[in-house]
This record gives sequence, C-alpha cells and structure tokens, in this order.
Amino acid sequence: MYLTKEEEKIMDGERGEQYGKMMRILVKMGEIFNAERLIPVSSAQISGVSYRTIGDAGIHFLKSLRGVKVSVPATLNPIAFDSEHLKDLKVDKEFYEKQMEILNAYTDMGIKPTMTCTPYYFDNVPKFGEHIAWAESSAVIYANSIIGARTNREGSVSALASAIIGKTPEYGMHVDENRKATHLIEVNFEMSPEDYPLLGLHVGKEVNGIPYLRIIGDEDDFKLMGAAMAASGSISMYHVENFTPEFRHALGDNVERIIVERGDLEKYRGEEIEVELVAIGCPHVSSSELRKIAEFLKGKKKKRGVELWIFGARSTIEKNEDAVKIINDFGGKVMRDTCVVVSNAGKIYQRIGTNSGKAALYLRKERFGGAEVIVRDLFTLLRSVVE
Ligand code: F3S
Repeated sequence: MYLTKEEEKIMDGERGEQYGKMMRILVKMGEIFNAERLIPVSSAQISGVSYRTIGDAGIHFLKSLRGVKVSVPATLNPIAFDSEHLKDLKVDKEFYEKQMEILNAYTDMGIKPTMTCTPYYFDNVPKFGEHIAWAESSAVIYANSIIGARTNREGSVSALASAIIGKTPEYGMHVDENRKATHLIEVNFEMSPEDYPLLGLHVGKEVNGIPYLRIIGDEDDFKLMGAAMAASGSISMYHVENFTPEFRHALGDNVERIIVERGDLEKYRGEEIEVELVAIGCPHVSSSELRKIAEFLKGKKKKRGVELWIFGARSTIEKNEDAVKIINDFGGKVMRDTCVVVSNAGKIYQRIGTNSGKAALYLRKERFGGAEVIVRDLFTLLRSVVE
C-alpha cells in the first residue's frame, strides 16, 4: 500500500507510540483489503461505548490511549444509561463509575459526547459523496444508503484509529464499483408499516452484498429496515428504487433476483404476548417519529402494568420539547444517551414490544436478556399502552 512520507513517519512513531499504533491498524486493514492508499475522512462515529458491551478490557484499551486526540470531528454511540433514569435502569454505583470512566476517556480525546446512533440527524451530518469512517452498523447503512456518504462498517477500534489519524484505507464502500447492487429484491405483497424491520431482518439473512429494493416507504421506514438488515447480516448499503440517491446507476445485468413472500417475514414477528415494556427508538427516534408518538398520545391515559420507553439523541429530544412533554405527561419515559439494547432494559423486562427488528434480534439473545420480543408497527404498540 502506498504511504506518503508523513504517514510513514507517523507509523514509525514520530508522533508517539500511540499514534504509531493507530496508523499501523489502518495500514494493516488496508493491506488485508488490498487498498492502494489512505484517504482523508471528514468525520468518525465511534462505537464500543457502553460498559455492558466493552467491559473492563475496553477500559484497559482506552487507558492505553491517554493523551491522544482525534483529528476530525467524531461523535459517540450510546452509553449504558441515561443519568436521569438510573433507578429505572437499575444502575448501581460501580457500574455507573465504570461507564463514566469510559465516557471520560473518549471525551478527553476530543470526541463529542453525543451518545447516539443517529448522529446524522443533527450532530454529525455527512454530505453526499463524503468519505467518513463510521462504526455502528445502523448508522453506516443509513449514511451509505439514504445520504450517499461513503463508509465501510468500521469496528470500534478502526473507527477510533481513523478519528485519530483522520484517514481510512480506500476500499469497499469508498470505491464506486463496490456500491452497485448485487441482488434485486422483489416484494410480492403490499408492505404494511410493520413489514420494514421484518423485511430488513429477512434480507440481511439472505443477501451478502448490496440489495436493490422495489418498495415504497419513507425515511423512518427505511431507517428501521436498514438497521435490521445490517444487524442480521453484513450489509452496509442498499438501494431503494426512486428513493435513495444512488439508485439510478445501481442496477447492472448480473444481479441475483430474490422474491420475498409475506410468509417469509412471519418467523421474525414473534407470537402475540402481553408486553411489560414497549420500547421505541432503535435506532434512536427521529423528530418526525417523536411528533407522531406525541400526537397519538395527547390527552390519552396510560394503561397500568406496561411501560413505554422511547430512546433518542439529546439533540432530537431538545429540539422537540413539546412532544417530549406530552409523552412524559402521558406517563411514558423519553430517555437520552442510551438504548433498549445497551442498557439493562433487556434484563429488567422479559416481555418486550418494539418496532425495531434490530432490537428484537439482540434482546432475544441470552447475552442481552433473552426476552420474549414481538415486532409490531408503531401505532399498534402505542395502542397497547393506552387505557
Ligand atoms: Fe442504536 Fe442501540 Fe439500536 S445503538 S441502533 S438504539 S441497538
């Protein structure tokens, strides 16, 4: 791989061993994926932030980077709690302190404590064609597909290395020809709102490449679909005909055709149960989702025995104060900085309803609580919390 003199010097430790180590990580990745060079990135999104997911080994790694600073704007994934809801989330003192140690290590490096997986709404908004280095698969697939920015599915360490060095190896989604569709997905039925996350889970399992879908929907539908797709498989980009910015040149002759029948989605929905928790906001809610929820709940009374938790970015919550007040008055909880997967929610509740295929996939796993989870559309879920 070609390296400039400057890059070689950094790799050899001229700026210090820690920078050298970060450069070596990027170069190694570039060699593995046959990149010809490193290219500048305009931002990074860092994952591996919740103490529940990175544990003490993560703290140890972050400590080894003390004193290092990022060189491009970088934002942070959710942590394990919202500090205003420590009791609800059953956070004890030791857990709290460990989490804060992680958070402080990142902010000391100059990373913005956004604590959201939807930085693309307000905190870190890439432009079409911009090269970025993002971790968090739901944000990666959104950035590539809906915005047309360019990022591979970085891991927490490679995204951090890119944030520090300001570069990434040029391969994968950074290269035009790799952004073309490999599969054409024909959906054989009329989509209902609950089908987007289910379709995402199914396509993620079936496709190892870039799907091109002939469906209609809006940004919120496709956000849920993309997050599920990325979580159940290795997809980092999709095209939707007449919707996503690169669909026009995406289809070639050699695409594999996959037909999806309604029955294909059934196994992901989960059998009807009385839920204890309805969790919305995986990925974090958009302003339009928050407003829809508030409009629906306005003047209604919450049913006893079921909780409504909504997860969003601080920035989204601050910009929609009125909607948040309506939800709080109803008895729902709007939480920031965390989410249903990386917090203790899955350990506290064993019967959960969500409109997120990604959340369902994780929460059903033993490691995240092994809960019974049903995937339903937003309004069906909201109706289930209203008296
Ligand atoms: Fe975001 Fe947590 Fe879901 S980080 S995509 S809300 S698992």
